[in-house]
Amino acid sequence: MSDLSLSASAHTPQLVPASRAVPSLLEDVRDGLLRIPRELPPKYFYDDHGSALFEAICETPEYYPTRAERALLLAHAREIVEAVRPQVMVELGSGVATKIGPLFEASAGLGLAVTYCPFDVCAAVLTKSAALLTGRYAGLTVSPLQGDFTAGLDHLPVLAGPTLYMFLGGTIGNFTDPAALALLREIRALMRPTDRLLLGADRVKAMAVLNAAYNDAAGYTAAFNLNVLSVLNAGVGANFVPSQFAHRAFYNEQEAQIEMHLVSREAQTVELPALNTRLQLAAGDSIRTEISRKFSPDALQKLLASAGFAIERYFTGEDEAFSVVLAAPAAA
Ligand code: SAH
Ligand code: TRP
Repeated sequence: MSDLSLSASAHTPQLVPASRAVPSLLEDVRDGLLRIPRELPPKYFYDDHGSALFEAICETPEYYPTRAERALLLAHAREIVEAVRPQVMVELGSGVATKIGPLFEASAGLGLAVTYCPFDVCAAVLTKSAALLTGRYAGLTVSPLQGDFTAGLDHLPVLAGPTLYMFLGGTIGNFTDPAALALLREIRALMRPTDRLLLGADRVKAMAVLNAAYNDAAGYTAAFNLNVLSVLNAGVGANFVPSQFAHRAFYNEQEAQIEMHLVSREAQTVELPALNTRLQLAAGDSIRTEISRKFSPDALQKLLASAGFAIERYFTGEDEAFSVVLAAPAAA
């Protein structure tokens, strides 16, 4: 447990220390790229440039999840806030937090003083969201937290009062089933009987809609995917040439997930001096950079039940594009 009052100012994120060791970027490169299938954890997308590209993705006509989730939050904010009466909101992977304004408005409407703790790996989005939100809603205090939510939640501040944990944007889908379950169980372990989880998850739908969402015509998703190579160059001194790779994203119906890859355009060798080795790629060899799983209502219910949650409200639009779920800790 940490003391929030120690943070220097509302705009300076407080560091949340890891509760367990997680691999460094170098170890992830070694373990992820030097074996087959080649794969990288998604957190490396989000350097300052990557986060700006993600914001641009959210505005594209093809990327429906942001609009769909925003509409659900707007439509049901009052019901959510009346049910939980939160004094604290902790959002994992908050990004710039542009969708949850209606929750703050509804809270202010009920006269609730709320401390909002956005928690993200990217300092730039925290600073930006704190600047955007501070002073905008009556009774709202913003306390940004910087850390890696895959490194454990033991050091997340736990404040008095009903707490609404939020995990939005379909980010839960960026984890394999065991990893998603483990993360949800860690959130569950923090929760008291009056706390709730607000989870946003994308839904299974027509393949063409899914494929378009991860292949926007303006090319922001491609740029976002390729940007991870610049992160690797900066972080471990590799010499990836982004133009030597193609963005490839497709829906894998069997697994109900979008898979995003970087495909080597030709035979090439990438130097990894920090590992004293090089990566040899043939034309067509790929690195999987992301999965984004899509959940049927049933699959989402099962995942939450295994993690110790009971769904109290299931919100979805007429288009059935996206789900927002309010879940309570289930009695053990
Ligand atoms: N919730 C926002 C952003 C979703 S993008 C929305 O719905 O639009 C995913 C966010 O999670 C990014 O802001 C990214 O920086 C953050 N993130 C990804 N992996 C993370 C990790 N391991 N720990 C903390 N934040 C992470
Ligand atoms: N959580 C988002 C999703 O799965 C992240 C995301 C959107 C994303 N578009 C992307 C990740 C493109 C990588 C590439 O939809």
